[in-house]
Amino acid sequence: MAKATKKAPATKPGSKPKYRRILLKLSGEALMGDTGFGVCPDTVDFIAREVKDSVEHKTQIAVVIGGGNIFRGIEAATSGMERVSADYMGMLATTINALALQNALERHGIETRVQSAIEMNEICEPYIRRKAVRHLEKGRVVIFAAGTGNPYFTTDTAAALRAMEMNAEIILKATKVDGVYTSDPVKDKKAKKFSTIKYIDVLKRGLHVMDSTAISLCMDNSLPIMVFNLMGKGNIRKIVTGKRVGTYIGA
Ligand code: GTP
Repeated sequence: MAKATKKAPATKPGSKPKYRRILLKLSGEALMGDTGFGVCPDTVDFIAREVKDSVEHKTQIAVVIGGGNIFRGIEAATSGMERVSADYMGMLATTINALALQNALERHGIETRVQSAIEMNEICEPYIRRKAVRHLEKGRVVIFAAGTGNPYFTTDTAAALRAMEMNAEIILKATKVDGVYTSDPVKDKKAKKFSTIKYIDVLKRGLHVMDSTAISLCMDNSLPIMVFNLMGKGNIRKIVTGKRVGTYIGA
């Protein structure tokens, strides 16, 4: 499991959150920790505890999860597989991750519902917007599986779409680094971090935070995005209680 960074100072559970409803976007890779493939139980447990911490601060949380730890549609397509089939396989991978996160959250006593954009009724609920909103109002974490249900769309785009459908106030985009940089901070030691950046500048500079469809959707609908390091302990709570962590993308 990847190491968690510094502990956040405790805030009183129940203290008023800045954000009442958020959408958390997790990549599939976030679930694999240092294992290189699949689902790392310790990492998923860490994420579940982070989510629980914010649920206890009365923030309603919807989650969109990727599938890249199991299957990457785009990569399979470049190596010869038909793109549409590859994307559907990617969507199934997101469902595996959604069930893993659901299981971890429920082990921590958090009520959850998984809703899938592709019906698989024996496994989870189908996506029904009004039902999802109702679950959130009841304090359940709603995990959206299978992206948008359509090939050629990423789970980042699914996150932007679901965030708007749920009337979420912000998207929390979890990454391995602590924000948006001028270039990849892992490769370029001179890379500088933005504390805020406009959507249009993310697009113009070609910064690979989220794909351009997702950024454009957020820009057209004035939905802010906070890019932050998922492995920083307490980061989700800090954001929902109004502390600045990572990079804020807005108008
Ligand atoms: P409220 O009625 O608002 O309290 O929501 P609820 O989700 O508790 O009610 P519901 O009776 O719809 O669901 C009860 C359980 O069945 C929950 O765990 C749901 O996730 C699950 N469930 C509901 N619909 C489906 C479905 O189509 N497929 C699967 N697999 N489970 C479902």
